[in-house]
Amino acid sequence: PRHKGLGFTPYCKYQNFWYPEHLLPVSLAMQDTFESRPSDVILATMAKSGTTWLKAIVFSIVNRYRYATALNNHPLLNSSPHDCFPFLHSIYEKNSQNNLESMPSPRLLAEHLPFSHLPTSIIDSGCKIVYLCRNPKDAFVSLRHYLDKMMPIGCEMTPFDESFDLFCEGVFPFGPFWDHMLEYWKESIKSPQKVLFLKYEDLKEDLVGNIERLGEFLGCPFSVDEVKRGVIEEIVKLCNIETMKNVKINKEGEHGKFVSFKNSAFFRKGGIGDWKEHITPDMAKRIDMIIEQKLHGSGLTF
Ligand code: A3P
Repeated sequence: PRHKGLGFTPYCKYQNFWYPEHLLPVSLAMQDTFESRPSDVILATMAKSGTTWLKAIVFSIVNRYRYATALNNHPLLNSSPHDCFPFLHSIYEKNSQNNLESMPSPRLLAEHLPFSHLPTSIIDSGCKIVYLCRNPKDAFVSLRHYLDKMMPIGCEMTPFDESFDLFCEGVFPFGPFWDHMLEYWKESIKSPQKVLFLKYEDLKEDLVGNIERLGEFLGCPFSVDEVKRGVIEEIVKLCNIETMKNVKINKEGEHGKFVSFKNSAFFRKGGIGDWKEHITPDMAKRIDMIIEQKLHGSGLTF
């Protein structure tokens, strides 16, 4: 099945999941050819769940011996988190797969693919996967704002109500949202050393604790001395949305091949519960019922 989408890019369904149409061929190519290393760090996320933020956080944790995390001269102050920590599909879109071989370890690569569609070498290599999702209502509202900013001239955005109906039916980048979360959730329970499951809301609530957790999970735990020196707090500040918003390239830069992405569209409010400004109580009830029904018995809640 093919659908015109939630904003302006068409979607097609492949093995139960909805792909932005232009990403299906590259995703299939990745499945066949990507060779993962045990040292790779894969960030798998639901779109609009804080991918950009977590890219910055994981990049600064993993590279803290190379780049001091104090607020000066860090790569994140001169380049976009999407360049420091690229999407695997962007590398394939640019046809620069050869560069993957020369990337130094640990390679940091991101994806929105569902767990069951990841290249098999990622599953088999023993590399780590960090997963991030978010309250679906906030992610939906975030996506609408994002698409609005991306809208090419002359294109018309799908009306809000119509795109909400589609969302409830599972249409979302790599949705259904609930199936995407559940696949990683189950895997994180089965193989906690392989998949770390995080929620945007948990990062907002206790970022310091989750940075420590990430350090442990990724095999580079923070020493007592680092904690004393305030390295974790430095990472929190470096990756703060206001700091990131004001980095020149995040304000003015663009990237992407098929769709031109304004970097600034990745930074908006960065809060919890903004859906209340946009989704009516009836709509909220409808989506809550779907979420409850889909996640029932899994132990995963929002
Ligand atoms: P809002 O639109 O709700 O503000 P993604 O990076 O997966 O596309 O997600 C984008 C969402 O993450 C946006 O949410 C954006 O504002 C928020 N975000 C981006 N950088 C952030 C940061 N440093 N801290 C907290 N939230 C951030």
